Amino acid sequence: MTTKFRRIGVLTSGGDSPGMNATIRAVTRAALENGVEVMGIYEGYKGLMEGNMKLFSERDVSNILNHGGTILYSARSPEFKTEEGMARAVAVCEKNQIDGIVAIGGDGTFRGATDLTLRGIPCIGLPGTIDNDITATDYSIGYDTAMNTVIEMVDRLRDTCESHARCDVVEVMGRNAGYIALNTGVAVGASIIVVDEIAFDEDAAIERVIEAKNNGKRNFIVIVAEGCEGFAEPFAKRFEQKTGIETKFARLAHVVRGGSPTLRDRVLAAQMGKEAVDLLLDGKSNLVVCIHEDKICSMDIGYALILDRMYKGKLKDGDLDAFSSEQAAEMREFCRVKAEQFRDLYNTAYLISK
Ligand code: F6P
Repeated sequence: MTTKFRRIGVLTSGGDSPGMNATIRAVTRAALENGVEVMGIYEGYKGLMEGNMKLFSERDVSNILNHGGTILYSARSPEFKTEEGMARAVAVCEKNQIDGIVAIGGDGTFRGATDLTLRGIPCIGLPGTIDNDITATDYSIGYDTAMNTVIEMVDRLRDTCESHARCDVVEVMGRNAGYIALNTGVAVGASIIVVDEIAFDEDAAIERVIEAKNNGKRNFIVIVAEGCEGFAEPFAKRFEQKTGIETKFARLAHVVRGGSPTLRDRVLAAQMGKEAVDLLLDGKSNLVVCIHEDKICSMDIGYALILDRMYKGKLKDGDLDAFSSEQAAEMREFCRVKAEQFRDLYNTAYLISK
């Protein structure tokens, strides 16, 4: 372990997620145990540029792990992306003796971490987002809680659907990714799941619903990912017309982004927070901490961001130039397996939906 680190910073950036506080706690306590001071940076990169920060003791992170949101707050900062903003952030780090940063958030947060690392402030990224849309990791912090909140809400809707022989079309967050929709759809026994990643055969789905209705089924739940922009509400109307089942529409929105983190998110926060500190103190940087096949690991942020683009079908010309053909093949295989797992679960859900 290097002794270079006197003080590290920790920040949360982008959309908040349940478990961010547990992560801040883990990072702070792990660093302090190693004799390294911790600066809590408020409002993400914006606060970093403005010097909005406080030196944390163990007690500053007491009694926070069970709370949703982030005690460090979060903000978007277009200015941080400019050379001037970046220079301000580096100057603030130097002035405040911040030798490294743990940045908790999504891909925008990781891009900021790379920019800072390139300018001499080593950074480690931690995946904190309900969307689970970071390809490099199987789970992001907050995702499990968000899904559990969705199933709690939808179970309630189903109670009343059953009483009145109705359908509820429920749109759930997830930005462009269908992970929350797919997994909660399975967990609540949705009759239909609509995600942007997989083509939706509306006629076939409606036909199955009518068969189930004719077979005595009274409650119907349809889960739609918010990535299917503009689909859910009009679909609720079409569904009612085509099936004759009274149908309500509900958008759960930000309600799934708050609340006390689940056990799984708390444990993940503890493991990832400690790993981030270990990596920094070992002299590593520009890495995102991940969990893959139940093991905590890490991936170069540059690699992770391109992997992400590949998975989402957004590769640009030249994106793979910095990687060897073996690395590119490895990325393709990673994406193939991930997409296959997603599709398998979708097919399973469909098979047992009647
Ligand atoms: O990334 C988390 C998330 O909640 C997405 O699921 C959603 O699309 C977006 O943030 C909403 O952003 P905002 O809080 O800025 O409305």
